[in-house]
Amino acid sequence: MNEQRRLRVALLGAGSVGSQVASMLLEHADALAERTGARLELAGIAVRNLDAPRDVDLPRELLTTDAESLIVGADIVIELMGGIEPARSYILTALRAGADVVTGNKALLAEHGAEIYDVADQVGASVSYEAAVAAAIPIIRPLKDSLAGDRVERIFGILNGSTNYILDKMDREQLPAEEAQQLATDLGYLEADPTLDLGGYDAAHKAAILASLAFHTKVSLDDVHREGIELVTADVIEGARSAGYVVKLLAVCERLTEPEGESVSVRVYPALIDREHPMASVHGGNNAVFVEAAAAGPLMFYGAGAGGRETASAVMGDVVSAARRHIAGGIGVGESPRLSLPVAPVGRILTRYQVRLEVSDAPGVLQEIAGIFNDEGVSVATVDQSQVEEGEDGARRRAVIVLATHRARESALQATVDRLRASDVVSHVVSVLRVEGE
Ligand code: HSE
Repeated sequence: MNEQRRLRVALLGAGSVGSQVASMLLEHADALAERTGARLELAGIAVRNLDAPRDVDLPRELLTTDAESLIVGADIVIELMGGIEPARSYILTALRAGADVVTGNKALLAEHGAEIYDVADQVGASVSYEAAVAAAIPIIRPLKDSLAGDRVERIFGILNGSTNYILDKMDREQLPAEEAQQLATDLGYLEADPTLDLGGYDAAHKAAILASLAFHTKVSLDDVHREGIELVTADVIEGARSAGYVVKLLAVCERLTEPEGESVSVRVYPALIDREHPMASVHGGNNAVFVEAAAAGPLMFYGAGAGGRETASAVMGDVVSAARRHIAGGIGVGESPRLSLPVAPVGRILTRYQVRLEVSDAPGVLQEIAGIFNDEGVSVATVDQSQVEEGEDGARRRAVIVLATHRARESALQATVDRLRASDVVSHVVSVLRVEGE
């Protein structure tokens, strides 16, 4: 071990993850020196407010509000401040000054990743971001390195811990959505702007990052079809359970191979998962990612998807890796060549669906509904008329019909749903959910 080598590490941000990273850098300094061959010297921690309360006590003399000065002369810059600006500018400054960058900033990478990777490539520096997706779970490095010689066909997973916690509470404890959301808020699981979690934006950022990496192409947030969990009520959860499913907010990234060429589809939505599927057993704030690769077959990654200490573990792995590169020399491993595959609109996807309808319980209704599915080329697999109740006038009766389809094109399914909504026999389209994982 060369104890003489010192690498200056600049940390930007001392929130829940940043403060844990600082503490790990300080506490494990000797072990890190052994693993990397250099002493990782925490040169300073840039914060907005020197007096803000922190999760761990940090040496006051390391704190500064002058991020620019800290970046200058650093070998490794760890950006954990979040947000787009000034994080983007700081990262570009660091790269242009020759530093390697480690970041957990999913929104920044999903929206400005291409620009950042280009600058890193130009200067031969590296940008690592294991912490940006699924916190403690190693998923970036497996996609970037371990599977680099394979062909990834599909990734699907639970990438957002707080919505998984909410849906899990609704499913296992039959809590109403508002109550489950309040519990998640009380535990500090939700982002400062909860819409990022509840609206599926956080999962969409992560899906864009994974798809870009897996398919060697540029996928940004705007390319991701996104639906959140706002419309998932206790009734929807109960309906799913009675049909043998659990509702999960899923991210799906897949390669579409069609006669007209290859494209990718990236989408986030609440979907039904068979209760026997391993994904159904992902409880609480955990994440899970399934990767299907041509040669490797199906792989599953599972663990904590959030948390300061857990996310800091992923950051530290990237820091060690960057330090080793500095010691070994050579240019940083850039992003893989970009194929620029087109991103397909969600209408092109093929999946299965469950459609719940409230209808008039009268002769010919089922035939009319079946005719609409048939006209649009959507094949019905099962029909279940599970609830029948009296209408308000006591004379007209209504039924709830649950139809499960075989694999169908999303555009055909949407046309079917539009016609069902307009039909006289359908009083209400209660829910339309994709069925994934089969
Ligand atoms: N808000 C995120 C989640 C935190 O709930 O998963 C980790 O990225």
